Formats: sequence, structure tokens, C-alpha cells
Amino acid sequence: MIPGEPCSGPHWPRRITVLGATGSVGRATLDLVAEQKGRFEVEALTGGRRVRELAALARTFRPRFVALADPAGYAELRELLAGTGIEVAAGEEAVVEAAARPAELVMAAVVGVAGLRPTLAAVRRGALVALANKECLVSAGELFVREVETHDAVLLPVDSEHNAVFQALAGGGRRHLERIVLTASGGPFRTWSAEEMARATPEQALAHPSWRMGAKITVDSATLMNKGLEIIEAHHLFQLDEREIEVVVHPQSVIHGIALFTDGSMLAQMGPPDMRIPIAHALAWPSRLCTSVRRLDLLELGRLDFEPPDPARFPALRLAREALRAGDGAPTVLNAANEVAVAAFLEGRIGFRDIARLVEEALASALACAVPRDIEGVLALDAEARAFTRARIAAAAGSGAS
Ligand SMILES: NC(=O)c1ccc[n+]([C@@H]2O[C@H](COP(=O)([O-])OP(=O)(O)OC[C@H]3O[C@@H](n4cnc5c(N)ncnc54)[C@H](OP(=O)(O)O)[C@@H]3O)[C@@H](O)[C@H]2O)c1
Repeated sequence: MIPGEPCSGPHWPRRITVLGATGSVGRATLDLVAEQKGRFEVEALTGGRRVRELAALARTFRPRFVALADPAGYAELRELLAGTGIEVAAGEEAVVEAAARPAELVMAAVVGVAGLRPTLAAVRRGALVALANKECLVSAGELFVREVETHDAVLLPVDSEHNAVFQALAGGGRRHLERIVLTASGGPFRTWSAEEMARATPEQALAHPSWRMGAKITVDSATLMNKGLEIIEAHHLFQLDEREIEVVVHPQSVIHGIALFTDGSMLAQMGPPDMRIPIAHALAWPSRLCTSVRRLDLLELGRLDFEPPDPARFPALRLAREALRAGDGAPTVLNAANEVAVAAFLEGRIGFRDIARLVEEALASALACAVPRDIEGVLALDAEARAFTRARIAAAAGSGAS
């Protein structure tokens, strides 16, 4: 055996399902599938509301089953796929059914807690789950991890930082891990003053300096809530204490994550900021693909910078750490309030700094002390925290405050 080679690789072609196929991660996944001719077969594809995009992907990738979350798009989807022999369904349950179908690997790339039930359906049949959807792990935490263990499912981290740590752990072992470092680009407002940030528009928040991603995660990157969610995600994925997860701003975004071992060694994973790299790693695990992704040119890069995150301008990071330390329902509430606040910001109904303020208010409410006993309890608490945050937004709009 060649050192570093896994004992056995996947049996090609690998059968996969892509949840959130019409999104940024979903499309990047399918780009790789198209490039890797003959390596993958597609069992099912799902989308949220973009009917035409989903139909076009289905015509290209020929899955057995296609599901759209929005039932209003069912008739159009059926019409667009008429004569293809592809089974079509719509509604939340249809997305769950897509995940439950027999694919060896499921790419979980729905955005938000809407991805929780479908991802769990894949977990509950013991699938390999390539996890992009961090919100389901943030929101359901221990309950989600327990389901993974009970059903012998395998989580393959797709978030670039967690994928980096996952890759670094292959060189050192979890037993000798002391702590990890998650890098953050700093987002579009890294060098902005607090006053400038207060006036930031959705367009400015969506202009990410290094990554091209969906709207919600791009705004999360601008507030640094994304890094906060990633701290909670890392806690569950790698069973680390909150204090063992460090965040460092690294504007070049080429070191994605670092594992620091007990002997003082630091193993970092590097690459250009391109999600196809962690996605390719998960898709081929425990082997690797040969991709056409641009290679990093170190001389062109020249230097690597690191700086601490500014807690005053980016309070979301502190809020996420507090929610993780508080435990119980706090991470569920943090995530739900953030999803509602980000959507309101994108619709121009609140200001940029209101996002963290609303999350802080939700965390200070009695809701954060609730203890969800099961996944249904998590979803009920999520709904309550959403209602709470929507009510705060409506009250502020009514009083003329922002
Ligand atoms: N983008 C990245 O580079 C990146 C990196 C790391 C982690 N992630 C994580 O990966 C996940 C996906 O991010 P993204 O950037 O790919 O998001 P995105 O571009 O907004 O795509 C989200 C996907 O989810 C679908 N969707 C939305 N609401 C849904 C619902 N209620 N039920 C079922 N499907 C629904 C969307 O469908 P329609 O578009 O058809 O409505 C779309 O396919 C997020 O959790 C994010 O944090 C993303």
C-alpha cells in the first residue's frame, strides 16, 4: 500500500443525491459530477423555488427523482420534465423523500434549518452525508450527532474550514488534537468603521471579497455570524470545547483551517477559495478526484496575513460563543433569529447592525432556556424564535425605529 493511500476507495460510479441542487454548493457539486465523467450517477436532485433551473439540471443529469420544496411550482416542473421519465414531486415531504432514496452519498446543501429534516432522512438510513448545511448542526446539535451515531452514518464536512480540519486530522489523529483554528476572510466590511457598517446596504454586504456563495451565507460572512455558526459546527463535528476553537482573520482565504497537535505541530490545509475543492474531497472520500480546479500559485500570492477579529464591530462572533456555552435551546434560537434577521436585511427592512441586535434580543429571551428533547422540539423552538424575531422587527417598524 502506498503511504497515505486509503485501504479501499469508493466503488465507481458512486450514486449521489444533491439536496439544494439549484444553489451555489449544489451547482458546484454538479459541475464536478459533469467533469468526472462516469464516476457519479445521480439518484435525486432537489430545489427550493427555482423551477426552471431545477428542470434544466434534471435534463442534464438525468436523476431518477426530482423534488421541489415549493408546491406551487409542481405543475410547471412536471410540464418541463414531461417525457423524460423522471419522477417529479413537490413539497417539503418530497425533499425528505429525495434524501431517503438509496444514494450512497447525499450532498446536504439546502440553506438554513429547512435542511434539517431532509439531512436527517439521509442520516437515518446510514448514508455518507456530505454536510454543507451548517445550520442543521448548529440548530439540532447533540440530537443530530446522536442520530448520526445511532444510524452509523458518516458526516463528511464540506464547509471549507471544517473540511480543512478533517483533512489535517488524517495527518495527526483526533486523539492528539489540542485545538483548531478556523480562518475567516473578514468579509466585505473587514476594514469598515462601525458607522459605515451601520449604513451598509444588501448590495455591499453581498460583495464578498473572496468567495462566491448564496445570499444568506454571504451576509453571515459580512457579520461574521458565519464564523460563529462554524464554531458551533466544529464543536459538534470534532467534539471540541468552545475554547479549543480559535478564529483568525486571514484576508487571502487560502489557509482554510488548521489543526494544532499536542507536540506543537500545526497542519494547515490550503487551496484557492473555491468550494469545488472541499466538495471534491467529500464526493470522493476516502479517495480523491483529479479536478481542473485552479492550483494555488504561492509566488503570485506572496504573503499570508492574519489578524484578530474585532469583537466590537462583529458582535455575532461573541453571541455564537455565548450560545454554545449556554447550550440547551440557545444555539437553536441564535440560528433561527439570525435566519429571520438576515432575510429582513436582504429585503431592506432592517439595517445591517440590527441583525446582531435581534439575535442578541432573542438570546436574552426565555426561549433560549428551553431544552428541546427531540428533533420535533428543535423545530418547534425554531418556529417560536422566528416568530419572536419577526415580532421585534414588526414592532421596530411600527415605532419608526430601525
Ligand atoms: N456557498 C458556499 O460557498 C458555502 C460554503 C460553505 C457552506 N455553505 C453552506 O451550504 C448551504 C447552502 O449554501 P448555498 O450558498 O449553496 O445557498 P444557496 O445558493 O442559497 O442555495 C440554497 C439551496 O437551498 C434550496 N432551498 C432554499 N430554501 C429551501 C427550502 N425551504 N426547502 C428546500 N430547499 C430549499 C435552494 O433552492 P432554490 O434556489 O431553488 O430556491 C437552493 O437549492 C448553507 O447552509 C451554507 O451555509 C455554503
